Amino acid sequence: MRIGVLTGGGDAPGLNAAIRAVVRRCFDRGDQPIGIRNGWAGLLGKGDVRVLTPPDVSGILHLGGTILGTSRTNPLKSQAEIEQLTGNIAAFGLDAIAVIGGDDTLSVACRLDELGIRVVGIPKTVDNDLSETDYCIGFDSAAGVVAEALDRLHTTASAHHRVLVAEVMGRDAGWVAVFGGLAGGADFILIPEVPVDIDRVCEHIQRRFALGKEFSIIVVAEGVVMREVVSKEAIREVDEFGHVRLDRRGVGETLSRIIEDRTGLETRVTVLGHLQRGGSPSAFDRVWATRLGVAAVDFIHAGTYGVLVAVRGNRIEPVPIRDAIGRMKQVDPSLYQLAEIFY
Ligand code: F6P
Repeated sequence: MRIGVLTGGGDAPGLNAAIRAVVRRCFDRGDQPIGIRNGWAGLLGKGDVRVLTPPDVSGILHLGGTILGTSRTNPLKSQAEIEQLTGNIAAFGLDAIAVIGGDDTLSVACRLDELGIRVVGIPKTVDNDLSETDYCIGFDSAAGVVAEALDRLHTTASAHHRVLVAEVMGRDAGWVAVFGGLAGGADFILIPEVPVDIDRVCEHIQRRFALGKEFSIIVVAEGVVMREVVSKEAIREVDEFGHVRLDRRGVGETLSRIIEDRTGLETRVTVLGHLQRGGSPSAFDRVWATRLGVAAVDFIHAGTYGVLVAVRGNRIEPVPIRDAIGRMKQVDPSLYQLAEIFY
């Protein structure tokens, strides 16, 4: 078989491990792997694809980014582009495509599945917000970056008796904030799923101070909903899938200014931004990316198409892509409550 592989959407640590797994499994099974460059953009126009050979995937397991490149190109916006996709898939003789991506990238895969193209999805997003799968490639590494950053913020916050606010990614879900915050011992975590009054945060910081804890680490997710912070709807810059630039809201900056004004405590903000997406994947991400990449090729050989290779507990199960997209997986409230015990 000629099996295409692409990475779409925001990059995440572990993409190269997944590409390597797909390609190596193709070799095992006598298939020819075809790399599609820059997400769905690689199947538009004249197309941008090439046969992948063993040297292409040698030495990439530990590398961040993606050797195939990525983009947020959305061909669903026009019928002409959907036709370009299907035309190129036929012209390049692709028997099936392993699509490594999150909700947006997989929504295109879902449409192709409806049109009779053989696709298998591999869950990827540092946000970890894809439904029907417990885990998405890149999430563990991103949460690890947050935990390490909080360790560093603790020492400087403690030395200066300051409040330090860390703004983290996650889009409209608080997974990165809650996992990173739990692992890094945050003193308060603010996430989109749980609206919190800033007064409560300030009172908590002051209570800690009165108890002799002269510093506090506050984690805030970029998508948090607070009266004082500009709403998502007010942001004009959107990507091709209609998502607003949440970094433009500056929630960390606003929150730190309010905390300083209301508590009188010196406060600083650190926006972790794309540090959370860059660099080497964790061992956990490498192992799951490897398992999922191999499983995707095995599903293709089994004739199981239109599915996501989903993580359920410690197992991999096929779930229809259409069930995984279009509704965000929210943070489990019990996990948030667990973090609160340690505030
Ligand atoms: O979806 C992954 C993500 O990193 C979000 O957490 C964040 O809101 C967004 O992508 C940032 O996108 P960009 O790469 O366009 O800055």
